[in-house]
Amino acid sequence: MSGVFEVQHPLIACHITRLRDQTTPPAEFRQLVSRLASLLAYEATKDLRADSVKVQTPLCVADGKQLSQRIGLIPILRAGLGMIDPVLELIPTAEVWHLGLYRDEATAKPVKYYSKLPPGRPVDVALILDPMLATGGSAVDALTTLREWGVPQVKLLSLIAAEEGVKRVEVAFPNSQIYVCQIDPDLNDRKFIVPGLGDAGDRIFNTQDHD
Ligand code: PRP
Repeated sequence: MSGVFEVQHPLIACHITRLRDQTTPPAEFRQLVSRLASLLAYEATKDLRADSVKVQTPLCVADGKQLSQRIGLIPILRAGLGMIDPVLELIPTAEVWHLGLYRDEATAKPVKYYSKLPPGRPVDVALILDPMLATGGSAVDALTTLREWGVPQVKLLSLIAAEEGVKRVEVAFPNSQIYVCQIDPDLNDRKFIVPGLGDAGDRIFNTQDHD
């Protein structure tokens, strides 16, 4: 299953509204990122494979399930850090492999500055965690890195995306899955998502311009 999934849910719509609000302070912004990451991950993991197992309850043996694939969480630094804990809470056995990318302010192109991926032994399913997908440059870079590592199935989880960026990722990686809470129509001349929510990394870490 590949494609773009803009998850429709009233809780997501309400939390995204608060996330967009410029008066939402960093502490609440972090909570909202966390809640939205959980809701998105719940949707994005619906097709994970699970083996049948037996479990001994206090009364008898029952049929159960156990994840059968190695799952990797790939947070894109910095903003993706805000999505790790809620997704790990849902998949406690997941591995976390960090990738560092920032967008050059002048060119809007991604610059890779850190990769913790080990040589060999790729995970079976990778969930890329990044709150924002704007031009799609960072996502394409991350997907390229994961394909080179040899990951067979990659899912990109972003809270907010621009239509242009989603299309770019879809074209470059037609077999991947993109899960987003909301797709916005535009990018401005600085390649910021419009209406968007500003810069997620700055709002999570309280590093926005305070002048
Ligand atoms: C933001 C965001 C994505 C990227 C999206 O990161 O978290 O990684 O930009 O833009 P793109 O789709 O045009 O590549 P940023 O460069 O602001 O770094 P930060 O997370 O350290 O703030």
